[in-house]
Amino acid sequence: MLINQYHQNQPIKYPKIKDLPRQYARDGVIGLPNISEPQVVRHYTRLSVKNFSIDGNFYPLGSCTMKYNPKVCHSLASLPEFADIHPQTPENLSQGTLEILYNLQEDLKQITNMDAVSLAPAAGSQGELAGCLIIKKYFADKNETIRTQIIIPDAAHGTNPASAKMAGFDVIQIPTCENGDLKLDDLKQAISEKTAAIMLTNPSTLGLFEPNIIEISKTIHAAGALLYYDGANLNAIMGKTNPAIMGFDIIHTNLHKTFATPHGGGGPGAGPIAVCAKLKDYLPNPVIIKKDGEYHKADNKNSIGKLTANFGNVGVLIRAYIYIKLCGNEGLKRVSEIAVLNANYLKTKLEQAGFDIFQPKKLCSHEFIISFNKLKKETGVTAFDIAKRLLDYNIHPPTVYFPSLVPECFLIEPTETESKQELDNFVEIMIKINEEAQNNPDLLKNAPNNLKLKRLDELKAAKELNLRF
Ligand SMILES: Cc1ncc(COP(=O)(O)O)c(C=O)c1O
Repeated sequence: MLINQYHQNQPIKYPKIKDLPRQYARDGVIGLPNISEPQVVRHYTRLSVKNFSIDGNFYPLGSCTMKYNPKVCHSLASLPEFADIHPQTPENLSQGTLEILYNLQEDLKQITNMDAVSLAPAAGSQGELAGCLIIKKYFADKNETIRTQIIIPDAAHGTNPASAKMAGFDVIQIPTCENGDLKLDDLKQAISEKTAAIMLTNPSTLGLFEPNIIEISKTIHAAGALLYYDGANLNAIMGKTNPAIMGFDIIHTNLHKTFATPHGGGGPGAGPIAVCAKLKDYLPNPVIIKKDGEYHKADNKNSIGKLTANFGNVGVLIRAYIYIKLCGNEGLKRVSEIAVLNANYLKTKLEQAGFDIFQPKKLCSHEFIISFNKLKKETGVTAFDIAKRLLDYNIHPPTVYFPSLVPECFLIEPTETESKQELDNFVEIMIKINEEAQNNPDLLKNAPNNLKLKRLDELKAAKELNLRF
C-alpha cells in the first residue's frame, strides 16, 4: 500500500500565500496524504521489516558477502561533521575527511600490498572498468595497441567480461577443469601478441583457491601482459596472502562486501582500485595526497579520467575506514580465518547430511557450491524451488544458478559474522526441505507458501511487462 492510499480525511488545504505571482500558484490540490505522524512512522516501519535483510535474517548469498554491517560504523559516519560536509568544501575546512580518505588509501595499499590506490570507483564493476581502461592506456603509451584481448575464465563473475568489453577489449574465454582449477594448457594456447591481460578471481567463484596461481602469473607476464585481480571478495585472504605476492598488477575490492559497508537495494557502493608502481599515474582521479602535514585532492595528469563526481561515495568510504580500524591487522586476518572456517564447517555438515557438494574433498574458501541436479532428476524439484522454500523458513536463499558451470547449484557464503547456532539451524532446515522434496514436491514447487507475496509467474511478467504500481 502506498502512503497516500491511507488517508480518509480531506486532502490538506494549504493557506493561500498572498502576493504570490500567478505563474507560481498551484491550480489543483497537492497530493500529500492528510495523516498523522504515528501513521507515517508505522507505515514506514512496517515497510522496513517486509524486506529480507541481514539485520533480520540469515543471508548466505554466495559471492555477494552479505555480512553484518556494524552499527557503530553507521553512527560514526552519520556524525554531522561527515554527513553534512559539502563535497566542494574548501580543503582547509575539510582536513578531517580528507585525512580519513588518505588513511583509507594507505590501509588498502597495505592490505593488498599494492603501490597506489584510488577510492573513486562507486562499485566493484566500475573498479573493473577503471582497471581495463588503465590496461588500455598503459599499452597505448607503449605503442602496443595490438593488445586488444583480455583472457577471462568461464568461472569469472559476469561483470568481468562486461567491463572488458565496455573498455573496448575482445574477451577470450577459457574453460575451467572439472576440479575447478584453471586449464593451464588452454591458457597458454589463448595467449598471443594480442593479449593485454587476464582477469582472475582468486579464490574463484567456485569457492576454490587457484593452486597454479604463480605459474599463471609468470606465464602472463612472460607474454608481456598484465594480471587483473577481481578482489570483490578479499574476505577469504586478508592477512594470509595478497594479490601483489601472487603477481597481480591491478586489483579492485568491494568495500560493500569485505569491509562490511551496506549494499542492499543496489547501493551506494565503493570499489577502490589498487595498482603496482608502473600503473600509478593512470589511476582514476582524484587521489588524496599528503604534503607538509596537510591533505589535498590531486589529479594525475596521465589518469584515465574521472569516474564519479567529487570523491566517490564518501559515506561508504568512511564506514569502511571505521571497520578497518575497529578490526586492526589481527582482526582482519581473523575475519578471513572465520569466514573460511564457517564455510568449511557448513560444507562438511551439509555433506554429512547427504548433500551433493562440488569438489567435497577440497577445502573451500569463504564460499562453496552444492548441486541439486540429482534431486531434480529424482523428484523434479529444482534449486529454484528450494530457494523459494527457504524463504518460508525465514532464510534468504543463497545465490542460485551461479556459477553456471555447476548445474542446479547454490553458491553458499555464510560469512564470518554468523554463529555456530545459525549455521546449525540452516543445516537442519536444509535437511527438512530435502525431506519435503522427497515426500511432497508440490509444497516446494508452490513456495513461498507463508509469505504475503507468492511466486511470480516469471514468464507472464516477462511477456506482459507492467512496471506501474
Ligand atoms: C566476484 C565479483 N566481482 C565483481 C562484482 C561486481 O561488484 P558490484 O556489484 O559492486 O559492481 C561482484 C558483485 O557481486 C562480485 O561478486
